[in-house]
Amino acid sequence: MSQQPPPRTVVVLAAGAGKRMKSGLPKVLHPLLGRTLVGHVLSAAAPLAADRTVVVVGHGADQVRAHLAEIAPQATPVLQAEQLGTGHAVRVALAAVPESSGTVVVLNGDVPLLRPETLGGLVEAHERAGAAATVLAAEVPDPTGLGRIVRDADGQLQQIVEQRDTTPDQREIREINAGIYAFDAARLRDALGKLSTENAQGEEYLTDVFGLLRSADEPVAVHVAPDHIETLGCNDRVELTGLRRLLRDRVNEAWMRSGVSLLDPATTWIDVTVALDRDAVVDQNTQLRGATVIGAGAQVGPDVTLVDTLVGPGATVVRSHAVGAEIGPAASVGPYAYLRPAARLAEKAKVGTFVEVKNSEVGVGSKVPHLTYVGDATIGEQSNIGAATVFVNYDGVRKHRTVIGDHARTGADNMFVAPVEVGDGAYTAAGSVIAEDVPAGAMAVARSRQRNIEGWVLKRRAGTAAAAAAERAGQAGVAGVSSGATASEGEAMHAGAEPVGGAHGTGDTATD
Ligand code: UD1
Ligand code: CA
Repeated sequence: MSQQPPPRTVVVLAAGAGKRMKSGLPKVLHPLLGRTLVGHVLSAAAPLAADRTVVVVGHGADQVRAHLAEIAPQATPVLQAEQLGTGHAVRVALAAVPESSGTVVVLNGDVPLLRPETLGGLVEAHERAGAAATVLAAEVPDPTGLGRIVRDADGQLQQIVEQRDTTPDQREIREINAGIYAFDAARLRDALGKLSTENAQGEEYLTDVFGLLRSADEPVAVHVAPDHIETLGCNDRVELTGLRRLLRDRVNEAWMRSGVSLLDPATTWIDVTVALDRDAVVDQNTQLRGATVIGAGAQVGPDVTLVDTLVGPGATVVRSHAVGAEIGPAASVGPYAYLRPAARLAEKAKVGTFVEVKNSEVGVGSKVPHLTYVGDATIGEQSNIGAATVFVNYDGVRKHRTVIGDHARTGADNMFVAPVEVGDGAYTAAGSVIAEDVPAGAMAVARSRQRNIEGWVLKRRAGTAAAAAAERAGQAGVAGVSSGATASEGEAMHAGAEPVGGAHGTGDTATD
């Protein structure tokens, strides 16, 4: 716009009960892909740069106020104690901002698919024409329940008639009132003072303002929405689900057009607050929520839910769930991993199958491949954590940290009893309970020695299938001992002696 726009006041109507939602939650607080219904409406209105934003609250007022304080602290909640109609609601709103002049934009709080561009178009057309009131209208397939736009022979808006007040002829009209308007503040105030409650619902209808202004020869206008979907309201959960699908399709189409591959858009649910970079690939059954960001070329899915999670460029996440996590560039997660808040995976780190990570750093190139819980730990670079390891972080009262250095190799089935540290390049043996620090380069063995009681089964479990098997093996075994000394030496080393040299003794080869 070339000219400075007049001052603007936005009024959002959100006091209704939303009875048909059958919910303990006020209707406008129901979530829809990353925002509440009222959150969507406020964000559509944000580019108007209004001087004041007033939200009329009533049912569930405390809950709505608390939500507004979080998402739109600049908005002023105004209480409409009794819901006496949309006209009454706007009257209450304007009484709270008596100084407001210029344009008053009124929006129903339950029309979440409205685009900022469409609202901006309505307001600009209204201001350009110097109209007293402009209504957003749309041609819909089924107008049942909605206010009808009644035009005269010249196509000029005559009045808006509520469903319950329509004549049979008017009921055939498919052009409806979206519940979104721009008004000239002074002329709106004047008309609101003249509203009656003589209608089917005994309410003060905001829509009657149009008939009143028209009778007074004030210019009123209709602005038609480019797509009727934008004007859909939400009255029950079936409609909410319908809106969610429509919004999903809109969001998904926008991402595909911006260079993201969605392999199955019908099962891909991306919150409006999520960002994806070019060449990201999202496979089926994937939900990306909240402040999640997906880096360039990352591959996410199938069967992934990410909440407030950062995924670095080139990372892969398969069949996993993450909340508040950071997945570094080219890192790999899953299948079947659970990343909890402050799980931070550095570049090329790996968190594999049935692994849970919480409040921990996994350093560059380090791997936690299988069946492991990592809690309150710092793992350095290029280290490998053996399978079935537990970072024992909780003493029943406090949480403690475990620190694993760089290039460490920890054995399978270890317990790290925090606070404890494993130094750079250190090894730990399989089955160890590591409760004391391990110096750099050391091998820690913390398990009892194995004792074999020869012939125990034959003596104590005589007559069992095990005993029979042992007997058969015993004969073979006797033959084996005479010809296979190396093998039995190996066995002896495993069972009793210190593990020596290499991954074999720590169980590490089993968990790479
Ligand atoms: C309203 C319009 C109708 C339009 C439809 C679009 C009127 C009289 N009718 O009908 O022409 O087609 O929206 O969806 O305006 N609210 C309050 N206080 C009240 C009453 C309502 O804050 O006293 C709020 C509701 O919370 C809701 C909005 O106003 O967000 C609309 O109210 P609702 O009762 O849903 O209006 P409709 O009957 O759908
Ligand atoms: Ca109503």
